[in-house]
Amino acid sequence: MQEGEVWAPDATHGFTKGTVVEIGSETLTVQTPDDAYIVAAYSKVFPTSTECLVDDNCMLLQLNEASLLDNIKCRFLIGKIYTYTANILTVVNPYRDLSALYTDALMNDYKGTSLGKLDPHTFAIADKAYTDMIYRGVSQSVIVSGESGAGKTETTKHVLKYLASVYGKSSANGIEDKLLQANPLLEAFGNAQTVRNNNSSRFGKFIEVNFNKAGEIVGGHINTYLLEKSRITHQNPSERSYHIFYRLLAGASQELRREIRLREIKEYKCLSEGRSGNMRDAEQFDEISDALRCIGVPDTEIHEIYKIVSGVMAFGNVEFIDSGDTRGGSKVSPESSDWIEIAATCLSLEGDDLRHSLTSRLMQTKNLKKGTTYMVPLKKKEALHNRDGLCKSLYTRLFNHIVKQVNQSLPLSDNSNCYIGVLDIAGFEYFETNSFEQLCINYCNEKLQQFFNSRVIREEQDLYKAENLGVNEIQFSDNQDCIELIERGFVLLDEEAKLPTSCEKHFTSLLHEQNRRHFRLQLPRKSKLSSYRSMLDEEGFIIRHYAGAVCYNTVGWLDRNSDTLHSSLEQLMLTSESDLVARLYSDIQDVKCNKKMVQDSVGGKFKKQLNTLLEKLQGTATSFIRCIKPNQHMAPAEFDGGKVLNQLISLGMVTALALMQAGFPSRIAFKDLYDMYSSNLPDKLKSLHPRMFCSALFRAIGMSPNDYKFGVTKIFFRPGKFAEVDLLMKSSSQHLIDMISRVEKWVLRQCWRRVQFAILAFNKWTKIARWRTGCIINIQKNYRMWSTRRNYLPRIEGVRAIKGSMSKITVMIEIASKIKYDRDAVNKEIDEMRQFLDGEMGQLKAGQVHTDLIQLKLGQIEDQVKRLLDRVKETQDSDKLRQIQEDMEAERLRQEEAERQRKLEEERQAEERRIKKELEEKRLRELEEQRKREEEERKRLEQERERLERERLEREEEERQEALRKEQEERDRMVALSISEDNQATLVKEEVLVPIEKDTKGGLDRNNIKDWKYSELRDCINTSCDVELLELARDEFHRRLKAYQAWKQKNLQRKKKEAAKPDLPLSSVPEAPVQSFRKEEDKPKHEHRLFKVPFVYPSYNNPSVRGWWYAHFYGKWIVRQLEIHPEKAPLCLIAGRDDLKMCELQLQETGLTKRKGSEITMKEFDDLWACCGGGTYVLREDQ
Ligand SMILES: Nc1ncnc2c1ncn2[C@@H]1O[C@H](COP(=O)(O)OP(=O)(O)OP(=O)(O)O)[C@@H](O)[C@H]1O
Ligand SMILES: [Mg+2]
Repeated sequence: MQEGEVWAPDATHGFTKGTVVEIGSETLTVQTPDDAYIVAAYSKVFPTSTECLVDDNCMLLQLNEASLLDNIKCRFLIGKIYTYTANILTVVNPYRDLSALYTDALMNDYKGTSLGKLDPHTFAIADKAYTDMIYRGVSQSVIVSGESGAGKTETTKHVLKYLASVYGKSSANGIEDKLLQANPLLEAFGNAQTVRNNNSSRFGKFIEVNFNKAGEIVGGHINTYLLEKSRITHQNPSERSYHIFYRLLAGASQELRREIRLREIKEYKCLSEGRSGNMRDAEQFDEISDALRCIGVPDTEIHEIYKIVSGVMAFGNVEFIDSGDTRGGSKVSPESSDWIEIAATCLSLEGDDLRHSLTSRLMQTKNLKKGTTYMVPLKKKEALHNRDGLCKSLYTRLFNHIVKQVNQSLPLSDNSNCYIGVLDIAGFEYFETNSFEQLCINYCNEKLQQFFNSRVIREEQDLYKAENLGVNEIQFSDNQDCIELIERGFVLLDEEAKLPTSCEKHFTSLLHEQNRRHFRLQLPRKSKLSSYRSMLDEEGFIIRHYAGAVCYNTVGWLDRNSDTLHSSLEQLMLTSESDLVARLYSDIQDVKCNKKMVQDSVGGKFKKQLNTLLEKLQGTATSFIRCIKPNQHMAPAEFDGGKVLNQLISLGMVTALALMQAGFPSRIAFKDLYDMYSSNLPDKLKSLHPRMFCSALFRAIGMSPNDYKFGVTKIFFRPGKFAEVDLLMKSSSQHLIDMISRVEKWVLRQCWRRVQFAILAFNKWTKIARWRTGCIINIQKNYRMWSTRRNYLPRIEGVRAIKGSMSKITVMIEIASKIKYDRDAVNKEIDEMRQFLDGEMGQLKAGQVHTDLIQLKLGQIEDQVKRLLDRVKETQDSDKLRQIQEDMEAERLRQEEAERQRKLEEERQAEERRIKKELEEKRLRELEEQRKREEEERKRLEQERERLERERLEREEEERQEALRKEQEERDRMVALSISEDNQATLVKEEVLVPIEKDTKGGLDRNNIKDWKYSELRDCINTSCDVELLELARDEFHRRLKAYQAWKQKNLQRKKKEAAKPDLPLSSVPEAPVQSFRKEEDKPKHEHRLFKVPFVYPSYNNPSVRGWWYAHFYGKWIVRQLEIHPEKAPLCLIAGRDDLKMCELQLQETGLTKRKGSEITMKEFDDLWACCGGGTYVLREDQ
């Protein structure tokens, strides 16, 4: 069985091409070119398509994740790193210099150009944000997301550079330069080399660029989030601490080195744990100093900054030993005394004070009104902890201070109208060991994902519903429950910190206990990675994020969540002679002054910051840039499909693609569009309704009606129609006048067409009027004929009647001729009668008798003739009198008998009526009872129907939940797989995909017919004599075919889908009602039935062009099928050979048996079969 190429899921490449070799009822088996076999669920296998390299994924013919991945991959491999999905931009990190993509000339090309006109690019997104801001007057935000090393920061820089270079040149105070200079500065203090990225941002940032009404840059502001602190005191092997440490050591002049007491890099413990410096450090040091100067930091303060950095580094070398006194305290080790002096000098503190504050802690006695303070010595471990806390605190405050300086240098102008904000924040991340920082980052990503879902999917769908666009709903998993769970975790951690004997284990156990059955929370032993399974329940937890499950280790969380130093150290910092150091801690004094001000925990603060950020984002129009990391080795031209697919899914691109292809990413309100043009409209067009005007406008610019849809208040445009929208929205007066003149022309043309139509219609109606006149004449003719007949008919009939009477005169003459006596008198009477009749006839013909009297006269004549005839006959019949009397006697008796019978009959009828009445009453009673019964039955059925409906809805909901659960499982598995690959961790057995053996079945078990191969089923159908097995095999075989056909239908290429017809002509056959199924089953099982039905292909464009579909059923299943297409050769198909192309339904399901006139004879079928080259067909005995 060979049926086209398909994409099958593959852990390494994401998807791999192959052919379907086995059809299961729930899975397909795909054979890859290297002879591997992949078994995958129908929903994970997709057909391939020939086209690729489309700029916008929405233009793909096959809209599925495999084509999406393939398009992105093919483009990436030829250097096209950008791709759209409607207005969402996907960037794949090229890991090589593509400076040709970022030249000034190219920037100018993108200026004012509609999205979609030029190749996809960050510049296009930046320009769209700017244009939308100017035209709509709404602030914009660009959310750049992706995992570490995906290229977020680079992309952010491109956006900023574009805005600054293209739209910012006019500013005289150098805001653009400061904005651009802020980047290397923040990167020096906030970026570090990690295993994932050589220049990894260890903080998040939201950069706002403010514009005035004229669209000039007038200010800016930077918000930063969650600087990673652990890196200051500790690095992983092959990673580095913050760049500034290395750059300062490499680039500082001798004088500066002496002044801030720098030593050699290898002497610093905190810098020698991981990687060391690189060649560019020295050169980049100068850039930092320049940048600091550029943002207006005076040289003295720059020195102070470097001094603090040097102090932080020196602290890393300070070690402690037990003091040996009875209080169990510690002291600075003699080897470190130099370092503590260096640190003290750098921070302008007294060495002894520093020593003292590091090794002891200020405590306050309870129960006393004012509280007495005293110093408690710290153990060696506690002192080390204190030292690390001080380093982190100093460095974080210094970083925040630099951000503040940058912000101060960027004025927040009063005449700022709107802003464009660019968000660059760490993407969803997971390592082998995940701690509090990862939870915060992933929490942030959950929030951003929710924002993405709500912006891109929910709000869009709500709008489509409100505007009645009839777009099918897209399912997506709502992660609100996950956000709430994490927030509850933060609260719990804060509460734990307030307990006298707080510990992380207690916090973890409590978290599990309070959320025992939560879908998103799991115990570590439930992990798919065996390394986590050994973790105790109170040591960590798993959170099933939207992008997959991550196992967190809660060791040290209380400290990581706390943002405060020991008060003795804080106080010491305030006493520093360095103005900068004291300023860094000035907020401590504020807290002391205002006792109500409680310092937030790290989690709490981050939550607040995020909420503020999201509120801000809610108030802006948003563009999304999704960055993709093509491989883990940071190598150019290497595309790791599996990993990229994971990223695409977790970035919501697959769901977005489903929505975008069906959706309408851009829209305009009728009113807005109309208002733009209304002031320039001539009088003729002013009378047009806005909706009508918009319709005329679109037609005038030649837009296809398939490209837009009219909602209730807005017009919506299909993906890729940005250029047309922009064309409509250009507000320059010349442009508006041009457009209006096009509309005028179009309206004029429409009028002309209408006139033509009116003339044609007039001609047609003239013809109809002539035809009607002819008909009326006909009617008049017929009426006249009818009325004449009505006037003359009584006279004619009178003449006829008199003629009839005259014929009786002849009879009378003949009878009279036989009478012996009184014949003359009789003859005379007859003669008189004849004369009388002649006279009457004469009068009648002459029209002397009134029509109304004719009948009367005729009656009299008839009476007279009759009387005469009777008298004539009387004589003749006198001898028959006796006989007549006897007859009369007999008649009397018969009448008496009849009278008796009648009475008897009347009595019988009376009896019958009585019985009938009784029966009727009984029937009515029964009817009433039946009605009541039926009423009850109806109610019961109604209830039953409601119950079934309820059950159906419940079932659907369950299925939906199950699908979401499966999807989540799949993502959890992907994350686990990724961790296992990165860290050589082992997956638990059930998660390892076992490749199937080519042929594993020894014998065939009829009880496990579902496990049989497709070919085995077919062979069984063709060869088995076991009727029962045959029936089983046929049912299974067709069940699989049905599943396969359903899959094919679902994956029809989009263009075919738009034609909205399946590729089987059988689609034209209506489905049979379910009841008929039962009745048909009673019919003999093995009976030949042949049918003929017409079908129409929408693609023929002409409904009168039809094809014919012939089917030969034997029993339930089809055995032969013949298709006669209007434009191609006839197709003869035989079961067992061409099953995949044949009707897969059972006879009853096709509804053919109900279709009148569709059944034909075997001879008819066979003749046609032979004519079409079907050859001789012999039905096998076993079939
Ligand atoms: N458009 C690009 N052209 C060339 N190289 C790029 C591009 N984008 C990213 N890179 C390369 O990838 C590296 C990592 O990019 P970047 O620092 O922007 O990642 P990131 O997503 O910000 O990571 P993190 O979350 O760790 O900060 C860059 O240093 C650069 O070498
Ligand atoms: Mg970055």
